Amino acid sequence: MSGFCSIILAAGKGTRMKSKVPKVLHPICGRPMIEYMLDITRSLRSLKTYIVTGYGAAKVKAAVRADGVEFVLQPQLRGTADAVRRVEPRLKGFRGTVLILCGDTPLLSRDIVRALLAKHHQAKAAVTVLTAIIDHPQGYGRIIRDDTGSFLAIREQKDINDQETQIKEINVGVYCFEAPRLFEALKKVRLNARKKEFYLTDVVELLLAAGHPVDTFTTQDVQAGFGVNDRRDLAQAEAIIRRRILQEHMRNGVTIINPDTTYIEANVKIGSDTVIHPCTVIHSDVRIGSGCLIGPFARIRPGSRIADKVEIGNFTEISRTSIGSDVFMKHFSFLGDARVGAKANIGAGVVTANFDGVAKNKTTIGPGALIGSDAIMVAPVTIGSRAVVGAGAVVTKHTRVPAGAVVRGVPAKIFKE
Ligand code: UD1
Ligand code: MG
Repeated sequence: MSGFCSIILAAGKGTRMKSKVPKVLHPICGRPMIEYMLDITRSLRSLKTYIVTGYGAAKVKAAVRADGVEFVLQPQLRGTADAVRRVEPRLKGFRGTVLILCGDTPLLSRDIVRALLAKHHQAKAAVTVLTAIIDHPQGYGRIIRDDTGSFLAIREQKDINDQETQIKEINVGVYCFEAPRLFEALKKVRLNARKKEFYLTDVVELLLAAGHPVDTFTTQDVQAGFGVNDRRDLAQAEAIIRRRILQEHMRNGVTIINPDTTYIEANVKIGSDTVIHPCTVIHSDVRIGSGCLIGPFARIRPGSRIADKVEIGNFTEISRTSIGSDVFMKHFSFLGDARVGAKANIGAGVVTANFDGVAKNKTTIGPGALIGSDAIMVAPVTIGSRAVVGAGAVVTKHTRVPAGAVVRGVPAKIFKE
């Protein structure tokens, strides 16, 4: 595939979201929506990706990993054509293909975009528009064709007549353009009188009128073009992506007893033969080994690393914590900012008090240590290997329990060396 650059349109306010957060930063399964679009441009090796920002530009810039990405400000939200025009100075002299994506279609897949690019190059078109046929086309731009099926125009919802509302073929909002043709035609786009915006969709018609080859690529994937415009759409996209994530883990050999009540965010790795019981929440940036039992009712938060054959039982929370192999933590516990060695046993109700009101502090529990029920460790605390902390003990700040020692009481004192 020859080289291409990408533009992601993300300046819109997302009015219908009724939010102070820019639309493209709303998380879906733990990742900002726009990251799903960046997955596509990254994995297809876009030469350069320009994100057009406007509403909340600084927030978008701060939230997005910026390798190979440039931000372009659209000072006023004057429509999708105006947004693309802002990128023109950055693409001076570029004569290849420009892929344009919207920042709010997180269900779009890389394979579809790859197929779109392939068709575009094969047909040598000036523009190729990605279309989809869907049951509820309300709100989307419609694809207008003549009697022979040839493409004529894209008509926005606000501008269509009664007959055109029946059209089920929609504009997904993804296009491949030849750069020189795109920027030539953009100059000719007129303000849409009704919406007071410059429509990118008008460029396609203008190219056709100028005698350039215009092509379409229709995907059979009805979800591909799903645009997130309000909170209901957001929940729908979340449910679909969550399903995809769970299916991927199951394909990799993880048992998920009840997918309907299991929430696993993006960027989680789980080894084979691990069983996830119902009502479990696993956040992004978590690694779990093989042969573990997790849940029911467990919450594993970002930065947690769990080795093999570990049991994390009911009503437990783990945050920024690493746990060695064969550790049991079966009931009502919280571990935050902790390191637990292999074969340690965390009794029912054990808590690390990791926050002192100012900073988060670390707890280290050595291999084979036994932490009794209801013990509290006020971090920073170190429990040596094979040490025993008695039930109900409070191990106070800066205590170091030597290897093999037994401590008990409030505050915990050495009972046996
Ligand atoms: C747009 C398309 C429509 C298509 C739909 C697919 C146009 C005119 N219409 O409509 O044909 O069916 O997407 O989801 O293009 N944006 C900017 N600057 C602006 C305006 C918008 O960057 O001035 C960005 C938004 O942040 C968004 C994208 O462009 O990511 C699309 O804008 P949106 O307002 O959602 O357009 P739709 O009405 O959905
Ligand atoms: Mg939209």
